[in-house]
Amino acid sequence: MMKKYLVIGNPISHSLSPKLHNYWLKQNNIDATYDKIKLEEDGIKEIIEDIKKQKIVGCNVTVPFKKKVIPFLDRLSFQAEKTQSVNTILFEKGNLIGHNTDIVGFDKAIKALNFNMKDKKILILGAGGVVPSIIYALKEMHVLEITISNRTKQKAEDLKILFKNLNVVEWGNFSEFDVVINATSLGLNNEKINLNFSNIGKNKLFYDVIYNPAETSFLKKAKELGNKTENGGAMFIYQASEAFKLWHGIEPNIDNETIKILTDE
Ligand code: ATR
Repeated sequence: MMKKYLVIGNPISHSLSPKLHNYWLKQNNIDATYDKIKLEEDGIKEIIEDIKKQKIVGCNVTVPFKKKVIPFLDRLSFQAEKTQSVNTILFEKGNLIGHNTDIVGFDKAIKALNFNMKDKKILILGAGGVVPSIIYALKEMHVLEITISNRTKQKAEDLKILFKNLNVVEWGNFSEFDVVINATSLGLNNEKINLNFSNIGKNKLFYDVIYNPAETSFLKKAKELGNKTENGGAMFIYQASEAFKLWHGIEPNIDNETIKILTDE
């Protein structure tokens, strides 16, 4: 039987994971398929059962389930444990194991930019699924300080349970920063981001985790103000590449064709 892989999330229509993984599966002559499924929370259990039975070989997890899948798993990798966030599930010697490849994804994306995060002042917008992974990666890069601003302030405060030394500010209340990261879902459906970034200064790095659409209103605004910008495309490709390695033991090719998969939409 053809091996089956999945990404689960809600919403899921924007995910390009199937396109990317299917491209790599074909390139490596692996007889398998990779699909996306939109789930409600009560659907997690059934998917997990299917992985245990190996009807599904492996699974990627996206928002809003990165934390919610954890109670169903037998073991977590060190980084998944530290961030309480799982984006890749594999089945190994009878155990369901949760991994976090978003951390490596973000790390490699920043390194590919040749941007030195050391001693930088960072502002993160949002406190959702991917934020613990970004904080973890930033701390490893020895940034100077991390500030979180989220519409629902309490969710930003809650991140202090996982990480020491976070600053939390009111939504939209910004001073000067070296790097601003949009980790909200604002822009996924081309919504405008109604925030004033003019206090942040010029020549900063504005990074958006969103990769589809390629240019959100956050990045557009940042550019207009004279900043360097980057979308989440590389992070997305690197997290997928790391998941591919975990499942198939092969490091997939990242070339112009791979990057075209994200821009072809
Ligand atoms: P989840 O919150 O379920 O983990 P997510 O997509 O990872 O899902 O997170 C969505 C993020 O985008 C949250 O930080 C959310 O803010 P809230 O915590 O206040 O919900 C943020 N977000 C989504 N829509 C937004 C909007 N219209 N304005 C501001 N922030 C928004």
